[in-house]
Amino acid sequence: MSKSEHSVLPSDDEIYGSADMGRAAEADAFPQSERPARHAYEAVHDELMLDGNSRQNLATFCQTWEEPEIHRLMDECLDKNMIDKDEYPQTAEIEARCVRMLADLWNSPARPDGVGCSTTGSSEAVMLGGMGMKRRWEAKAKAAGKAPGRPNLVTGPVQVCWHKFTRYWDIEHREIPMENGRLIMTPEEVLSRCDENTIGVVPTLGVTFTCQYEPVKAVAEALDALQARTGLDIPIHVDAASGGFLAPFCAPGLVWDFRLPRVKSINSSGHKFGLAPLGVGWVLWREQKDLPEDLIFWVNYLGGNMRDIALNFSRPGGQVVCQYYNFLRLGHEGYRKIHTACYDTAHYLAAEIGRLGPFEVVYGGRMEEGIPAVCWKLKGDPGFSLYDFADRLRCRGWQVPAYSLPPRCETLVVQRILVRHGVSRDLASLLLKDMRQALEHFQRHPVASAMTGQEASGFRH
Ligand SMILES: Cc1ncc(COP(=O)(O)O)c(C=O)c1O
Repeated sequence: MSKSEHSVLPSDDEIYGSADMGRAAEADAFPQSERPARHAYEAVHDELMLDGNSRQNLATFCQTWEEPEIHRLMDECLDKNMIDKDEYPQTAEIEARCVRMLADLWNSPARPDGVGCSTTGSSEAVMLGGMGMKRRWEAKAKAAGKAPGRPNLVTGPVQVCWHKFTRYWDIEHREIPMENGRLIMTPEEVLSRCDENTIGVVPTLGVTFTCQYEPVKAVAEALDALQARTGLDIPIHVDAASGGFLAPFCAPGLVWDFRLPRVKSINSSGHKFGLAPLGVGWVLWREQKDLPEDLIFWVNYLGGNMRDIALNFSRPGGQVVCQYYNFLRLGHEGYRKIHTACYDTAHYLAAEIGRLGPFEVVYGGRMEEGIPAVCWKLKGDPGFSLYDFADRLRCRGWQVPAYSLPPRCETLVVQRILVRHGVSRDLASLLLKDMRQALEHFQRHPVASAMTGQEASGFRH
């Protein structure tokens, strides 16, 4: 309900004069008494004002702007439970259509079928894709009559979900550290870490820290050569959390998906560049034989049997329905238009940030190389840190995270902007204005003691 609709309702002016609004909202003990719905609503609504403005959160990869039709569909789907295929067969059908469309988008040989499912996001998708790799490796060792050793997984610098996966499943994580001048995996670094207990290699299409694509094709070719030399057949899972919904539209010539026979599974986040509201991801396997049978639970569906692969049981269906809406609404054409606008804005920001003086752009959002984002570092010592700069921008509501890179490059501090749907050219120009003002502020009021990473606030994704 909008404020204007609110104000015509008779009891409106009593809300803040009422007895229950004369005390702070309960925060610890379970409330004893009830409140009128409108009063409780205003109390919660007002508290939410203290959250940041999500549109100015340039740290997140996730969607913060949605069309009115998405808001309507989300409302209409409030009661839809993804697990309840019998009660909501059309929602189940819509999920299956999305899987088939993604199998088409990512060039699966299983087309027109698709093997996979929706998840709550890439983290759950990664967990399922990772479990698939582990099970396939175990089955292979068993078939060869070998007692499996301790499994290991080879990755570049990955998002925390892969640390969770390897820790939860007791897998040795062979994470290729960044080096000065090399911030992503290379085929040589991958090969030097592979052995018979490697369950898989995970290149990331859009590394979280620098936003660059890792070289999936070159890694696949190196693993082909390794197999020819040694017989070791090591599969690839691509973490395409961001790139899965970018590369097919903006870099169609980039070969990273099921066109490479070694790529056995892919995850992506619908709620990132898939443009769906928060709470949906996807995992797809190349073909039926790549999905281990024991990851599948069969649930009853209209008297038939339907596949369920998930860590959760109940899960909201609205995000999946909205993903389908986006596929229908945008198609290749619409996704290409929206993401191209984001890349254009990223280039504009990169050029202007480079011109400000103290900064050197590390990555500027090139379509073949990564996601629409800008990442920069300090050129020398301008008398303030990037944490100070981030803190100053925060005064105007912008969240532009500064963070140090992972081990071996931790002395390198970078700052990053994710340019996603809704980060318009106009907003970018306003941000640049605030950046110039922040630099002028530091000139007028030099920083006496620069802020460190420990002192800086903010969630860095
Ligand atoms: C490369 C990568 N993988 C996985 C994830 C986790 O995705 P989600 O937030 O959809 O669970 C992220 C999130 O930023 C990411 O960047």
